[in-house]
Amino acid sequence: RKRIRAALVGCGTVGGATARILLQDKELLLRRSGVEVELVALVDKSFDHARSLGIPEDIFRSDLDEVLADPTLDVIIELAGGVEFPRTLISRALDAGKHVVTANKALLALHGRELFAKAREKGLTIGFEASCAGGIPVIRAITDGLLANEIDAIYGILNGTSNYILSEMIHKGSSYADSLDQAQQIGLAEADPSLDVQGGDTAHKIAIMSSLAFGISPEFTDIPVSGIDNLDEQDVLAGRDLGYVVKLLAVAHRTPLGVAMWVGPAFISREHPLAWVEGPFNAVSIYGHAVGHTLFYGRGAGGDPTASAVISDILGLALGITPALFGHTGFWPDRNGETRQLPA
Ligand code: HSE
Repeated sequence: RKRIRAALVGCGTVGGATARILLQDKELLLRRSGVEVELVALVDKSFDHARSLGIPEDIFRSDLDEVLADPTLDVIIELAGGVEFPRTLISRALDAGKHVVTANKALLALHGRELFAKAREKGLTIGFEASCAGGIPVIRAITDGLLANEIDAIYGILNGTSNYILSEMIHKGSSYADSLDQAQQIGLAEADPSLDVQGGDTAHKIAIMSSLAFGISPEFTDIPVSGIDNLDEQDVLAGRDLGYVVKLLAVAHRTPLGVAMWVGPAFISREHPLAWVEGPFNAVSIYGHAVGHTLFYGRGAGGDPTASAVISDILGLALGITPALFGHTGFWPDRNGETRQLPA
């Protein structure tokens, strides 16, 4: 049996679910993977949420410095959210010789290059399966399962909140505002839900997946993005009457001029599988030259589904699977959008 000692920073929806599953399902995780995960510290400003989940108080720490200084700790799980705090935290964790697991797509889309460069320099790993499409293992699909393919296109419904809102509007005739409220209550939305409904969160995810799939370095601010916040409810309903559903789509595909990428609402024929994706679900469609069309479907937001991906990265670290993610794809594109081969 292998052991890995983890500290978790941030006990919100995903952090709380991750801590609870690590503690409650310890035996199951051990049986499935042969790895024993010891959650030795949970760092947050308050223990209230953790306490309500039945997490024992003795792992609560408020002093991050003390946690980072623990030489027996293997991995820091960053589920704090935001950008500047986790950027510093991950950088410090790497300096302290700890691996990192994060679900933070905003951080990786904006500063992934710098953080991965540091991780490589230190011989450490950043696991980020949970950053895209919640519980769907789409990062591993691109960097592992579909490695034999030249990827030609990625289409996805990547934001559970927006998809939930659109489903409620189309099927229940609910208002935009009520649906958003509901999405926040069930733990789908970001702390700042404008990231969800204005398309920024979807753009973060397609930027990360495109980097991996196409070997490009999209300048995040160059991606054309529109959200669902300006949709006219009448258009949504009129589309429905004509046999179309509105989905917030992310698209990245090869063109003769390079990879084109955009995020925005689109009418999709009811016959197309992406039209069947409802509520908090996500779907990612990847076209590879050998495999052809693939479609990955599952819960793209929410505590437990996202914790599923976070924990797979922790177990993968102990098993030596997670480190392969960037190493064997051989690139992390540089600032000019050119693919750089990594030194062997
Ligand atoms: N707020 C995000 C969503 C969470 O609704 O999809 C998962 O990244």
